[in-house]
Amino acid sequence: MILPFIAVVVSYLLGSVSFSVIYAKLFKGIDIRKHGSGNAGATNTLRVLGIGPAILVLALDVLKGIAAVWIGKWLGGDSVWVPAICGVSAIAGHNWPIYFHFRGGKGVATAIGVLATLCFLPALYAGIIAILTIVVTRYVSLGSLVFVTLTPISLVIMDRPWPLFWTSLIICVFAYWRHRSNIVKIIKGQENKLGSKGGKHV
Ligand code: G3P
Repeated sequence: MILPFIAVVVSYLLGSVSFSVIYAKLFKGIDIRKHGSGNAGATNTLRVLGIGPAILVLALDVLKGIAAVWIGKWLGGDSVWVPAICGVSAIAGHNWPIYFHFRGGKGVATAIGVLATLCFLPALYAGIIAILTIVVTRYVSLGSLVFVTLTPISLVIMDRPWPLFWTSLIICVFAYWRHRSNIVKIIKGQENKLGSKGGKHV
């Protein structure tokens, strides 16, 4: 019992390492949360700091999701639940990081790492449609929501184990909660498009 508990705590602490905040502070001397959309994530890093830093932040945020699931697999024995809960825990850390006053990102990059590791094909199918959505609309937030919505649906269609479905549903709820200001802006037609400078809405 103690090892799975340690795995979940370590995953949260790992998820709390907010790479956009660290990069922006270290190399530009700014708090990314005070610029652009105010979000501590790869999309806002792209907006504020450019493509190179954004790719680096995206990769590292995805990697911590992958790492959390593997920590769960390693310390969770045969359990399907422990890696899944570790993944959710890492996303919670990303969204509400203990090291940065609980003001983090929206969890999508970390969710990509978690879901791709837990259920590669369903996440891939959802990811392809999400990317198409971003290409067509230039709304990263809409693509993010499409991804987290379609993954649980793909899991059901592909008849995958129920723990994975429930996990992806929790991840979906987290993402909708964190994107609530984006959703309002999309409805009003005021959402930031990819490639444009964004106003603050966290
Ligand atoms: O994953 C974050 C993205 O969906 C939206 O980010 O900065 O446009 O609010 P942002």
